[in-house]
Amino acid sequence: MLRIGTPRRTHHCTCGKTGVQKRSADESKQLNQAELSKTAMADARLNAPAALRNRDLILEILRAYLPPQGLVLEIASGSGQHCIRFGEGLPHHVIQPSDPNREARASINAWIAESGAANVHQALAIDAAEDVWPRKTADAILCINMIHIAPWRAACGLFAGGAKLLPSGAPLYLYGPFKRDGRHIAPSNEAFDASLRHENPEWGVRDLEAVVALATSCGFEAPKIIEMPANNLSLVFHREK
Ligand SMILES: C[S@@+](CC[C@H](N)C(=O)[O-])C[C@H]1O[C@@H](n2cnc3c(N)ncnc32)[C@H](O)[C@@H]1O
Repeated sequence: MLRIGTPRRTHHCTCGKTGVQKRSADESKQLNQAELSKTAMADARLNAPAALRNRDLILEILRAYLPPQGLVLEIASGSGQHCIRFGEGLPHHVIQPSDPNREARASINAWIAESGAANVHQALAIDAAEDVWPRKTADAILCINMIHIAPWRAACGLFAGGAKLLPSGAPLYLYGPFKRDGRHIAPSNEAFDASLRHENPEWGVRDLEAVVALATSCGFEAPKIIEMPANNLSLVFHREK
């Protein structure tokens, strides 16, 4: 039987960067650990408050840029609260979530079960940095709040993998905080970047220009750039035609 209720465990991950308020050092540390607290709860569902805040805004963008139907592969699905909302809001698409973290996959699958979504597949284990992904095709790829909390090679793998899977003209949607022209666009982003780098020197808010150069070197066109709340950007790349 499906369990309905509010999960009690909060997924403290960097998708929680809002830029709206400063976080305490302790809170930032929890966020940067990006892993899943072990407090007791009745099922595997994790709660990422930021995902609840931004998912409808992201959905609006997806509706504008996704092809009218097809398989949408999400890389780094985290708690799974995005993919179930996207499944509900994009009834003509099939959503394929993924995450390399086992506990995240359990959460994603638990949210799918709870939502009853018929068009959201069980989560795959995909590490974007790996050369081979357990999925050979997709009509679109989404990646929300991942490339700043993973080594740069994950961003490289994301675009290399996307170039292999996506057909000509298909979109790759990227969301997160970025520097522009080498500068942070808000003090909160700068503080967030420092906390990420403190947590792991290989992490950090990426330069928009470096990400665009990486994407174009992998065969993507220059992105459509959309400013989002909390000093985040949506970048919509398309596979070269
Ligand atoms: C900050 S959370 C974002 C989760 C979700 N997209 C969201 O916005 O709520 C970052 C996620 O990236 C995943 N991740 C980290 N390194 C990755 C990699 N190399 N490939 C794919 N996912 C990765 C983590 O397991 C985690 O679930």
